[in-house]
Amino acid sequence: NNSINIGLLGLGTVGSGVVHIIDQHQDKLKHQVGCSVTISKILVNDLHKERDVHLNGSRLTTDADDILNDPEVDVILEVMGGIEESRKYILQALENKKHVVTANKDLVAVYGSELLQAAAKNKCDLFYEASVAGGIPIIRSLVDGLASDKITKMMGILNGTTNYILTKMTKEGRDYNEVLKEAQDLGYAESDPTADVEGIDAARKTAILGTLGFSMPIELEDVNVAGISNVTTEDLDYSHELGLTMKLIGIAERTGNKVEVSVQPTLFPHSHPLASVNDEFNAVYVYGEAVGETMFYGPGAGKLPTATAVVSDLVEVMKNMRLGVNGNKVSEPQFEKQLKSDDE
Ligand code: NAP
Ligand code: HSE
Repeated sequence: NNSINIGLLGLGTVGSGVVHIIDQHQDKLKHQVGCSVTISKILVNDLHKERDVHLNGSRLTTDADDILNDPEVDVILEVMGGIEESRKYILQALENKKHVVTANKDLVAVYGSELLQAAAKNKCDLFYEASVAGGIPIIRSLVDGLASDKITKMMGILNGTTNYILTKMTKEGRDYNEVLKEAQDLGYAESDPTADVEGIDAARKTAILGTLGFSMPIELEDVNVAGISNVTTEDLDYSHELGLTMKLIGIAERTGNKVEVSVQPTLFPHSHPLASVNDEFNAVYVYGEAVGETMFYGPGAGKLPTATAVVSDLVEVMKNMRLGVNGNKVSEPQFEKQLKSDDE
């Protein structure tokens, strides 16, 4: 094949970043995978919306079947969000033997096992690096880089919107609602920011990391969650005077067969590394029995960092296509196998 054809579902913050990176990094992509990458069709809600993106010949459509049933489309990149519709589209894509990349943590946290099983059944790839911590390659690091270790704990800042809000309220004394609006305008927040500010987005990401790190399915209901919507500038000023900085922290910890998962606003001494992770940046500590402590840091939300993760997953899909292999590293049968061997 001289070109890989992409069907892009969504052309918002992340989707327009994907179009930009595929356009601007075409030489590098071609060098890595030996063929060019073409976004042939893009699914949107509104064909007439003004868009600040060069489409380079890609055709917009509101008909998902036009993309998902097109035999010329090799790979689907799902960056539209939501749960039920995106689940349906991804399952349809996999049934039609198309590899899938998604940035959708809402979906992966709830239906990850089902989607991975469908991918395995259809011998397709399903990658989701962008679903946790935006531009930080944390999933690949857990699943590949730390594959030989037994992970005991993961802890960190996993939501860019709330970190942006807490940073601006603490450092600039600004009003919660004003800064939330700014985070929405910058493309960090979800279309409905409730999940961000109530800690649910961080809970979904912590559940995904826990599932991967501990090789056991962690449900959203297992996560003890509190957000930051009731935090005031007075709370933050008072903490600051006491030498403490507030961050919204997700923790997943395993002790024996017991796993505890929570998301809570947490106070750290100013000298703690997490206290100086500012704005939309995320940081995650991963502790392993053999490796000890590792820390991952980088932009956790936003157009280009998130799109980098999506397009990097695409590169992995294309490398696998070239080699004729299916590259899913984590599927439900592997989970079960791992659980048995851990329990033995
Ligand atoms: P967004 O800006 O709201 O864009 C969503 C896009 O999908 C829009 O282009 C919209 O079309 C299209 N769309 C939504 N529902 C659709 C439907 N039912 N049918 C057809 N088109 C539909 O969202 P985003 O911020 O790019 O986020 C996309 C996904 O990436 C979400 O799952 C999000 O959680 C995830 N994510 C986002 C970030 C981030 O920093 N923003 C980071 C990591 C992961 P119109 O343009 O016509 O309205
Ligand atoms: N709304 C999310 C955040 C986007 O603020 O972290 C990245 O997943």
